Amino acid sequence: MPIPERLKPTFSPARATGPDPVEEARKRLIVALDAPDARSAFELVNRLENTCQWFKVGLELFVAAGPAVLEPLVARGHSVFLDLKLHDIPNTVAGAARSAAALGVGMMTLHALGGPAMLAAAREALAPLADPPELLAVTVLTSMDPAQMKAAGLDRSPGEQVELLARMGLDAGIRGFVCSPQEVQALRGLTGPEGVLVIPGIRPAGADIGDQKRVATPAAALRQGASYLVVGRPITQAPNPAAAAEAILREMAVALHD
Ligand code: C5P
Repeated sequence: MPIPERLKPTFSPARATGPDPVEEARKRLIVALDAPDARSAFELVNRLENTCQWFKVGLELFVAAGPAVLEPLVARGHSVFLDLKLHDIPNTVAGAARSAAALGVGMMTLHALGGPAMLAAAREALAPLADPPELLAVTVLTSMDPAQMKAAGLDRSPGEQVELLARMGLDAGIRGFVCSPQEVQALRGLTGPEGVLVIPGIRPAGADIGDQKRVATPAAALRQGASYLVVGRPITQAPNPAAAAEAILREMAVALHD
C-alpha cells in the first residue's frame, strides 16, 4: 500500500514546511515496536496510534509474529518501517526486498556492509514498482563504539566508516541511510537535501541511554539534518507512552520551527 502523499516528509533537513510544526514532527517520528509478540505490540499501537503515524517492526517482533503482524498496521493507515537489516548475497536480498515491498511497507533496511552489488541488486529489484519502499542502508549500528568496531576488524572511526559506506551506497544508487546522531551532519553534507536520513539512538535529555552509545536529543538530531527519528524505549517503556511521544513531538516541533 503506498504511503499517502500527505505523510511523505519533505526531506529538507530540519525545517517545518507545513503550517503546523507538530504535524510535520509527526511525519518524522518513528516508534520502534520492539515487542516480544503481536499482542504486546498492538497494546502499544493501541495506546500510540492517535499520537504516532510511523511504526518500525524490527527483528524481535518480526521473528516472533511473522509478516502477518504488518497487515493490521497497514490496514489501520499507519506507515510501516520494516527494519530487518538485510545482509546476504545480492540475489537473496533482491528477493527479500521484493517480498517486503509486497507487504506494503514504506521503508526497509539493508546492511551497507553487504557491499555495492547487494545494494544495487535490491534497488534494481524495486525499480519496476510504482511506489516502492524507501531503501535505507544501515551504516554503523548506533550501539557500536570504537572498541566494538576494532574487535570486529573495522579500524576506522565510526565517522570515517559511516562516510565510506555512505559514499559506496550513493554510488550504488541508494539515497536513504541509517546512522547515529553523531554522523548525521556529515552525512547530510554528503547527500544534500535529497538524502533520507533515518536516525536512531535518540534520547530526550535525562533519558536512560541503555545499550546505545552514540546518542542525541530529538532536537539536536533534527537540527543536524535528520529526516526521521527512530525512538524505542524512551516511548515504549515510559509509564505513559502517548505522553512520552507527545513530549518528543513538541521538542521536535520547536526544532523544526527554529
Ligand atoms: O530503544 P531504542 O530507542 O534504543 O531503539 C532504537 C531502535 O533503532 C531499535 O529498534 C534498534 O534496532 C534500531 N536501530 C539502532 N541502530 C541502528 C539501526 C537501527 O538502534 N543503526
